[in-house]
Amino acid sequence: MIPFNKPVIIGKEPEYLNRVLKKNRFSGNGEFSRKCCDILEKRIGCVKAVMTPSCTAALEMAGLLCKIEPGDEVIMPSFTYVSTAGAFALRGAEIVWCDIREDTKNIDETKIEPLITNRTKVVVAVHYAGVACQMDAIRDICRRHNLFLVEDAAQAVDCSFDGMPLGKFGDLAALSFHETKNIQCGEGGALLVNNPNMVERAQFLRDKGTNRIYFDRGTVEQYTWIELGSSFLMSELQAAFLYPQLLESGNINQNRLETWNSYYRLFEDQLPPQKLPVIPARTAGNGHLFYVMADTRQQRQRMITFLENHGIMAIFHYVPLHKAPYWKGKYDNIYLPVTDRVSETLLRLPLYYNMTGKDVAYVAQHIIRFFKEGL
Ligand SMILES: Cc1ncc(COP(=O)(O)O)c(C=O)c1O
Repeated sequence: MIPFNKPVIIGKEPEYLNRVLKKNRFSGNGEFSRKCCDILEKRIGCVKAVMTPSCTAALEMAGLLCKIEPGDEVIMPSFTYVSTAGAFALRGAEIVWCDIREDTKNIDETKIEPLITNRTKVVVAVHYAGVACQMDAIRDICRRHNLFLVEDAAQAVDCSFDGMPLGKFGDLAALSFHETKNIQCGEGGALLVNNPNMVERAQFLRDKGTNRIYFDRGTVEQYTWIELGSSFLMSELQAAFLYPQLLESGNINQNRLETWNSYYRLFEDQLPPQKLPVIPARTAGNGHLFYVMADTRQQRQRMITFLENHGIMAIFHYVPLHKAPYWKGKYDNIYLPVTDRVSETLLRLPLYYNMTGKDVAYVAQHIIRFFKEGL
């Protein structure tokens, strides 16, 4: 079976894990956590990076840092992972769903402004598949309406828009290092802070709401509880596993981009362009995922079964969040036509580090055959 994903391992992880074992210090904000933060701060140019146990945790910190109160409105796409919305719903926010663009499957920046009310506090831009949202337009809207901008960059490590790294546009951004992502440590994430007013608070929140950073610096004799926080720390074991991958992320992403380009070249003369992903000119991606678009939900299901019968695992993606059972029909009257269509017809193909050209060709050949023969 050609799997959908193989978690990346570059071979240097045991060496770094052994260094942690020797040092006998495993908890958060240790040597490797700080090394990972340094890399992210230098590469992305954010004011502060905080390593977290997951992207979900980083988004939950964003909910706290934006001081979300019950009734505050947060605008985001419905075509995203549950954590994007859960982080803000946990604080009592009203989620306001925005439709997505046909080409990139990202939030449609032209549909954001009509959704803004005097209760709107945050816009969340999710960079689907590591392809940037239109960040100039979105940042402009947020500035004009005095809203916080949060980037859900879970899939977008080392991506950019107009040459600027994703994660540097928002007041805050969240990265994921889950095993399904380009760079991974099983479960893991990072919160990137660009808003100077949130830098210190992000560290208080991470340290259970205490001013432990002052204690670590030796400026107070005891640390104490100063605001509502939680344990948002990445363990040293996760950080040591992640560190060598972060150092090599350029090579890892290049390898995935080559696979992505191979798929594209095999398909471009065989399938109509609307069946293929679009990478707009101003964006640079990381080969996070490759998808094809079926015509209908039924056709996609037939394609999944056909591929499975030929030893290929391909899977659909997000089920629109506004239709989730959690909301008990609250958003039944909301019409998000692009979101509905995309979530019913998008199919993700196998793509992982060091996927062989032979396997890419085998998958492509079966997709082309499926469409050509009208199976
Ligand atoms: C857009 C998006 N946001 C957040 C997450 C959650 O990431 P994590 O598993 O690191 O919490 C995911 C996970 O796939 C995601 O796709």
